[in-house]
Amino acid sequence: MKQESAPETSDVVRRDRFSGGPARGFLSSMDDDDRIFEADLAVDRAHVVMLAEQGIVGDDEASTILGALEAVEQAGFDSLPDGEDVHAAIETAVVSKIGDVGGKMHTARSRNDEVATCIRYRLREDVLSAVETTLALRETLADMATEHAETVMPGYTHLQPAQPTTVGHYLLSYEQAVARDTERLFDAYERVNRSPLGAAAFAGTPFDVDRERTAELLGFDGFVANSMDAASARDFLVEVVAALANLATTVSGLAEDLVVFSNKGLVELSDDYSSTSSIMPQKKNPDTLELVRSIAGDASAGLNGLLTTLKGLPRAYNRDLQNATPHAWDAADAVTDAVEVAAGAVATASWDEDALAEAAGEGFSTATGVADLLAMQGVPFRKAHEMVAIASENGADYAALDSAAEDVLGNSLSNYVEPAAVEAALDPAESVAMRDSTGGPAPGAVAEQVAAAEVGVTADGDQLADERESLTSASAALTEVMNKYD
Ligand code: ARG
Repeated sequence: MKQESAPETSDVVRRDRFSGGPARGFLSSMDDDDRIFEADLAVDRAHVVMLAEQGIVGDDEASTILGALEAVEQAGFDSLPDGEDVHAAIETAVVSKIGDVGGKMHTARSRNDEVATCIRYRLREDVLSAVETTLALRETLADMATEHAETVMPGYTHLQPAQPTTVGHYLLSYEQAVARDTERLFDAYERVNRSPLGAAAFAGTPFDVDRERTAELLGFDGFVANSMDAASARDFLVEVVAALANLATTVSGLAEDLVVFSNKGLVELSDDYSSTSSIMPQKKNPDTLELVRSIAGDASAGLNGLLTTLKGLPRAYNRDLQNATPHAWDAADAVTDAVEVAAGAVATASWDEDALAEAAGEGFSTATGVADLLAMQGVPFRKAHEMVAIASENGADYAALDSAAEDVLGNSLSNYVEPAAVEAALDPAESVAMRDSTGGPAPGAVAEQVAAAEVGVTADGDQLADERESLTSASAALTEVMNKYD
């Protein structure tokens, strides 16, 4: 590999004359660009290989540039020279190592298509990590649901005792919700995974670039065709952050429930997921879950910040876009962490079966079951509802039900239904067992839901492995192609 004498860094890239003033720090995205350092190197490499394959640069020139990029990678992000951003800094580093030939790297492209490609390239990994944590959470929820398929607990609406259910049924309600979050992330991933490279500033290039080739070398599933759209579009960021905010919102509900349940003594978090008080010696606080709950606020603020930044931006590239990007990194990091912590808290929590069983019967929570029983015998449900409502105000036991039946239906309760069946319906566990409709809390229905959850987690796990495999094999293929220029 030939090594030309390197000029002074300050002379290297004349465009740097604009960025030495007092606004230098303000203009710079270097603080955030560490995240796309590896992405930029990959994008540079794929671009240079394509330029050589198209005869736009010579093979020896490509080889020199690729060698310099290797050295830049070895030295690491922190050794980059000053620059407005990682793209400029890497180019400056390359030129300072190999001289003018390094300036050929930026042929037929702009930082506009470059940065858009880097963001998408890196974001794929982050979306897949978020997917992975949703799968772990779903697995945990399904496992705990199996363990507690028959653990009766109070179910609430308006945070008032409503109907008994089981811990298994409750946990599966979140498994299903998180499964939709996985789906939304995969859905967003599809549109992230398109290459904008080759759009140049926005207006294309007179060079005979092969956009399909760079997309392939970077493992993208195709490219964004219109060059103005390719350079401008950030709707992929909106989709990802929206999917993350939705996921954070789902998990915030789970966190809130567990905070409330632990307040009621129905569940105890493991010490690993609790904090103490600096003054009150007896305290064990669910701080981790409170923080998990708070992340939904941050993520939705990020989504709002992103949308507000993008709203009304003129075509094609505007520097506002630089500030759009970190919203996605922040949301990805915070939400992924929160989901991981939520999964750990659920996996290690211990449910107090006695307290749950006792609470499950509080507040005449079996009232609906009694009304259902009467309705099954032909009493119009509205009448049965009225009758049980009166009984609920007068003791909520068999005697109260019997006298309400006389008042409302004009007959004793046993005229409609066996006393033993009424007694059974008043029992929380029996009440749960009766509700065996599809998706319901009866143990058989819960077992079906666990089975469906396991199938879903496996299928999504396969898809995750496929997506990761195609990224890994693309980067191996790129390395292989680069070897030709050694
Ligand atoms: N750091 C910039 C960003 O994140 C890179 C693109 C700069 N392009 C430009 N035309 N100034 O958006």
